[in-house]
Amino acid sequence: MEFNFPDAFLVGSSTAGHQVEGNNVNSDFWAEEHAEGSPYREKSGDAVDHYRLYQQDIALMAELGWNAYRFSIEWSRIEPEPGEYSQSAIEHYRDMLESCHKAGLTPVVVMHHFTSPKWLMRLGGWASPELPERFAKYCEVVFRELGHLIPYALTMNEVNLPVMLKEIFATMGFTPPVGIDREAWKAPQWRESAARLCGTTADNYFTFHMASDEASVELIKEVHQEARKAIKTVSPDTRVGWSMALSDVQAVPGGEEWAARKWYQYFEQYVPAMEGDDFFGLQNYTREVYGPDGQIQPEGEVTQMGYEFYPEGLGNVIRKVSQVLSMPLIVTEHGVATTDDERRQTFIREGLKGLQDCLNEGIDIKGYLHWSTFDNFEWNSGYSKHFGLIAVDRKTQKRQPKESARLLGQIAGITSLVSG
Ligand code: BGC
Repeated sequence: MEFNFPDAFLVGSSTAGHQVEGNNVNSDFWAEEHAEGSPYREKSGDAVDHYRLYQQDIALMAELGWNAYRFSIEWSRIEPEPGEYSQSAIEHYRDMLESCHKAGLTPVVVMHHFTSPKWLMRLGGWASPELPERFAKYCEVVFRELGHLIPYALTMNEVNLPVMLKEIFATMGFTPPVGIDREAWKAPQWRESAARLCGTTADNYFTFHMASDEASVELIKEVHQEARKAIKTVSPDTRVGWSMALSDVQAVPGGEEWAARKWYQYFEQYVPAMEGDDFFGLQNYTREVYGPDGQIQPEGEVTQMGYEFYPEGLGNVIRKVSQVLSMPLIVTEHGVATTDDERRQTFIREGLKGLQDCLNEGIDIKGYLHWSTFDNFEWNSGYSKHFGLIAVDRKTQKRQPKESARLLGQIAGITSLVSG
């Protein structure tokens, strides 16, 4: 194979607690799924039962030859009520981390992947001035106990997603099913019902996905910085960053201003908050092309998500980001929703070719984590999208690795050969 990665290059996959663990009953997303008139296509339920089956899952990842695993710690399990920390949940994640180390998988841990505890909504959610301190305290509790097992941590996953969602929906000219700005979310009745299920009213209800206005963006930056400080204080050796969803934003003649504005909103406006970070988690799925009248819809092959199939985007985005950030990068998500696993293999190979070119140009990239380990709960879309390297029969919870899973293992194998 044409790859020649540096020593200790991480190759593996990513998941998020709510999408795989099952029965995440204390979280705001559980409330959203169960709200009257909820736009969620189906409920997450047992998901792929990863909370119970993690040991066999980690063993399977190692068997496939991967050397890293990115997963999230679920805030609402660690702190089911404000200030009440569950030792049992901490022990669960301790065992996950120890299992990873024993199996030869480097863990990359995310402290917040979209879901928050229901109780946070009672305090005003992601608009609450208490948020930075509360989130930092949760991080402190976790890292005091588990920090020595966590070499890499992301405070939050895709801090820019709320802004991206708002932009996408605005371009499409309809009000989003998930309310994503302060005004829009107030209206739908299902939100009132979700708020009730969190023990509050709609005017307090403000989930992570709604954090797209200027004040919210500033608050997110503060949350990150306070969390990083808390983590570093109790676990100085953990390398800390955050991740962003970054489409490869391109312009055809006349679309340059559009593209520049998008890139500012999606990426540049967040850059100052990264000062002092140890690495950046880059996540890419596709490209967005702009012309004089805005975004141009893709004409070629699209994925189950309706995104253009465009694995070349990964190298392009790595290059763009590395011109601005002087810190190592880890690709913490890159994936494609498809039932055709051949296309997933092509997506991985082509994506990694771009990444290899970037390495050859001298860009410091520490790893590649594919989204996702399993076919899992894709938020509003339920279980209808197939991002997984491993298929799961949700009746029996039986795992079935796809060819793409083995391909990733071969690629990781090349890495360990290089690392000796
Ligand atoms: C998110 C995942 C999601 C994936 C595919 C990313 O934006 O981090 O939670 O499942 O994209 O849509």
